[in-house]
Amino acid sequence: MKVLAIAGSNSDASMNRQLVAYASSLFDHEEVEVIDLNPFEMPIYKHERELAGGVPQEAKDFASKIDGADLLLVSLPEHNGTYSTAFKNVFDWVSRIKDRTVFNQVPMLLMSTSPGGRGGAGVLEAASKRFPSHGGNIVETFSLPFFNDNFDKAAQKISNDEKDSELKDKIKKIAAIETLLEK
Ligand SMILES: Cc1cc2nc3c(=O)[nH]c(=O)nc-3n(C[C@H](O)[C@H](O)[C@H](O)COP(=O)(O)O)c2cc1C
Repeated sequence: MKVLAIAGSNSDASMNRQLVAYASSLFDHEEVEVIDLNPFEMPIYKHERELAGGVPQEAKDFASKIDGADLLLVSLPEHNGTYSTAFKNVFDWVSRIKDRTVFNQVPMLLMSTSPGGRGGAGVLEAASKRFPSHGGNIVETFSLPFFNDNFDKAAQKISNDEKDSELKDKIKKIAAIETLLEK
């Protein structure tokens, strides 16, 4: 099984990248790739840009990564209650590729973390509602509030035992479903 862990952030010190990398480390014996949005930075979507030059190669490369995965771990930052601009731009460009859906029905664990107490509840709600219209097959969601208190940056793991157990339980369930599907 190939696990693709996507941090929906372009921050070099991304909290969501750290969280999604930790989540990906909980899968045993699986091929794992962790990416963020830096290699997929493109001009802001504009209708005339698409007419003139088509969909940028970066968006096609992002779509290929999704197509090559058996499981997606997606962790989104929340900016002003919803998607970060960096994520929304990739999402918009990928949604313009013909004859495909953005997430191609690949099973997904959708996550968010933020420094605040709501743990990205706004972006999780927006994505949970919208992604299914774009081939999003969300099997579980997970939110980590107060990242700076609940994540041990030195050890690169969740330090809040309750939240850590919650994530591990969800991953166990997903791993079991995936193993059944492989048989
Ligand atoms: C423009 C902007 C808006 C933000 N709005 C929110 C918000 O609405 N809710 C929230 O929990 N955090 C908010 N934050 C804090 C982010 O959660 C945090 O900076 C960061 O994006 C966490 O994700 P990352 O490190 O993976 O990029 C905001 C940050 C910025 C720069």
